[in-house]
Amino acid sequence: MWEVHVATADEMVKLGRCMAAYLCGGDIVALYGPLGTGKTTLIQGIAEGLETTKRIISPTFVLVREYSGRLPLFHVDAYRLEGIDPSDIDWQVSFSEYISRGGVVVIEWAEYIKQLLPNERLDVFLSHESVGRNVKFLAHGERHSKLLLDVREGWKRLCKE
Ligand SMILES: Nc1ncnc2c1ncn2[C@@H]1O[C@H](COP(=O)(O)OP(=O)(O)OP(=O)(O)O)[C@@H](O)[C@H]1O
Ligand SMILES: [Mg+2]
Repeated sequence: MWEVHVATADEMVKLGRCMAAYLCGGDIVALYGPLGTGKTTLIQGIAEGLETTKRIISPTFVLVREYSGRLPLFHVDAYRLEGIDPSDIDWQVSFSEYISRGGVVVIEWAEYIKQLLPNERLDVFLSHESVGRNVKFLAHGERHSKLLLDVREGWKRLCKE
């Protein structure tokens, strides 16, 4: 577990860029947190760090958007799935396909598709603070534990610069 205070939106983008530096194909990042806690902002940073060309936008009409960069990035936004039985939607969100294509998968509103999430993943919980946001990381599995250690060390180095 690792917890960090992120004071501004710019810093959230920077944290995303830092995460991208250590992401590998097959990694799964699940973002949780109420409205406006910075989930899309964090993904924008991840996309920048992966050198994707198109701007990240919230996928309002589709569940999944694909971006090409150093690694393919799949942005899943489960917001519209609130209250829907996840067994009805697995044809739309195909984690095994994204992983087999060497992609990085980032899920916004992961709480809505909890039963569908792969067991091995990095959970990221975002919440509002009086100033800025709190971001809490929890890794599941060996690979994602390594990812979390790397991100943590990378962030410490960035903050010293
Ligand atoms: N660490 C931060 N400190 C202060 N403001 C932030 C921070 N991160 C993001 N923001 C700002 O919060 C607002 C909401 O950000 P964003 O759209 O990324 O949240 P979200 O969690 O994706 O929202 P939604 O739940 O609507 O999808 C934006 O104005 C963004 O610039
Ligand atoms: Mg969003």
